[in-house]
Amino acid sequence: MPTLNVQNLPGATSLEVSPGATLLATLQACGHDWMHACGAKGRCTTCRIEVVSGQEHLTPPTDAELRYHLAGRLQPHERLTCQARLPAGEVTGLVPRATRLPHVRYQ
Ligand code: FES
Repeated sequence: MPTLNVQNLPGATSLEVSPGATLLATLQACGHDWMHACGAKGRCTTCRIEVVSGQEHLTPPTDAELRYHLAGRLQPHERLTCQARLPAGEVTGLVPRATRLPHVRYQ
C-alpha cells in the first residue's frame, strides 16, 4: 500500500494512501488537520507539502500546480496535497512553516 509520512506532524507516519485519494484526503481521513483555504480546488497553495523524498512516486503535477510552479508560488520540491496522489511507493514530507495551523503542535 502506498505510504505517506509527514515528519513534523505528530502521528502522521505510515499513513496508507488509498487508490485515487489525494494526499489531503488521506491526511483528513486519518484525522489530521491540514490547511486548505480554497477547499481543495487548486486555487490557493495553502495545502502545500515540502517533499523530502519519494517525489518520483507522486502523480505528475496538475495544471494548477504547474501554474504555481511557473509563477514561483510553489518551489520545485513542493506539491499541493489537494492535487497530488500516490499510486505506489512512499513519500516523506514536511508541513511548511508558513502554512502551519495554530492549534497543532508540530515537531
Ligand atoms: S486547498 Fe487550495 S490549492 Fe489545495
